[in-house]
Amino acid sequence: MRVLVTGDRGYIGAVMVPFLRDAGHQVDGLDTGLYEGCDLLGGPDPIGSRRPRDMRDVGPAELEGYDAVVCLAALSNDPLGHLNKDATYSVNLDGTLRVAQAAKDAGVERFLFASSCSLYGAAGSEAVGEDADMFPVTPYGETKALAEKELSKLADDNFSPTYLRNATAYGASTRLRLDIVVNNLTAIAMTTGQVRLESDGTPWRPLVHIEDISRTFLKVLESPREVIHDEAFNVGRSEDVVQVRDIAEMVKDAVPGSTLSIADGAGPDLRNYKVDFSKLNETFPDLTLEWTVRKGVDELAAAYERHGLTLDDFNSAQFVRLRRIEQLLAAGLVDDQLRRQTEDQFPGPGDALFEEKH
Ligand SMILES: NC(=O)c1ccc[n+]([C@@H]2O[C@H](COP(=O)([O-])OP(=O)(O)OC[C@H]3O[C@@H](n4cnc5c(N)ncnc54)[C@H](O)[C@@H]3O)[C@@H](O)[C@H]2O)c1
Repeated sequence: MRVLVTGDRGYIGAVMVPFLRDAGHQVDGLDTGLYEGCDLLGGPDPIGSRRPRDMRDVGPAELEGYDAVVCLAALSNDPLGHLNKDATYSVNLDGTLRVAQAAKDAGVERFLFASSCSLYGAAGSEAVGEDADMFPVTPYGETKALAEKELSKLADDNFSPTYLRNATAYGASTRLRLDIVVNNLTAIAMTTGQVRLESDGTPWRPLVHIEDISRTFLKVLESPREVIHDEAFNVGRSEDVVQVRDIAEMVKDAVPGSTLSIADGAGPDLRNYKVDFSKLNETFPDLTLEWTVRKGVDELAAAYERHGLTLDDFNSAQFVRLRRIEQLLAAGLVDDQLRRQTEDQFPGPGDALFEEKH
């Protein structure tokens, strides 16, 4: 298939694009390039002569000839949404719908939307299936819920959107993120010798490895239309719905000499939910998600070791999305809607330009 991946230069895209290519698909990317230079171990394949492109400007002509669009592009987490709610709505909702409408107008038949389990929000103590009501508690979660609803209105005989509600991701990527729990705790342990919990560790978190996310997207791409048309799937493994303190224990065991500590006065984190993955398993019985959190922690620790990850890296804008966006805003490289103010590729986070500004 000919596939266009939006957000291909981000954390998941850096793993998904080679994964889809290895499966024999012809894959192109479209990305505004917010995280250029935010690289672990050399970064993804070079962008070549491709121009950065904002998905909010895409029209049908650019999408002609594709069989599928995979929409990963987004402002990708809760703290970013709080920084500027309008920008999160603009990118995650308007941008997604713009690409979807353009894809539909261009005759692209499939649209795989990277949604998130965070749209369930304050879900209570029962594991939530796809039919559960949505109670998003952040602008990020709201945009995912609204985008699904609006995409569904575009579904017809010639256009099949699918909503892949990913659990919180983990795993090594050349566009690493350290603002997600497993990656974060492993990095703290490696750079400080301490696995430090800021909450009491009781909240439940569903987790999934980025290669298993890629495997699931591939499965949906290759499945018959009637199986995936206008359907939502929770993406993850029931074995990996774990409490944060379990992750901390795994990290402590994997990083020799590290100790576990809980911040003074830490109470429970409000983001606390369990997710039911039976629809994914029942719909795709031959889809096997291969990673466990423990294996992922070992993979991350080995990647950090090879890269020589330092505490300075950990505290920099390199691997934390919110800090990188703040850096781009302070330098005037993007406006408050996170639209680029230059056609040139952004400098990496260690560029002298940013040192002068801070
Ligand atoms: N990482 C997770 O834990 C997780 C969990 C659930 C869902 N998701 C979803 O998966 C997708 C990918 O997440 P990620 O972790 O790779 O995020 P990321 O922030 O690493 O990557 C997002 C990419 O989108 C690009 N982008 C942002 N705005 C754009 C725009 N206007 N036009 C074009 N490109 C733009 C960025 O430059 C970046 O390369 C997101 O939609 C996210 O909401 C991620």
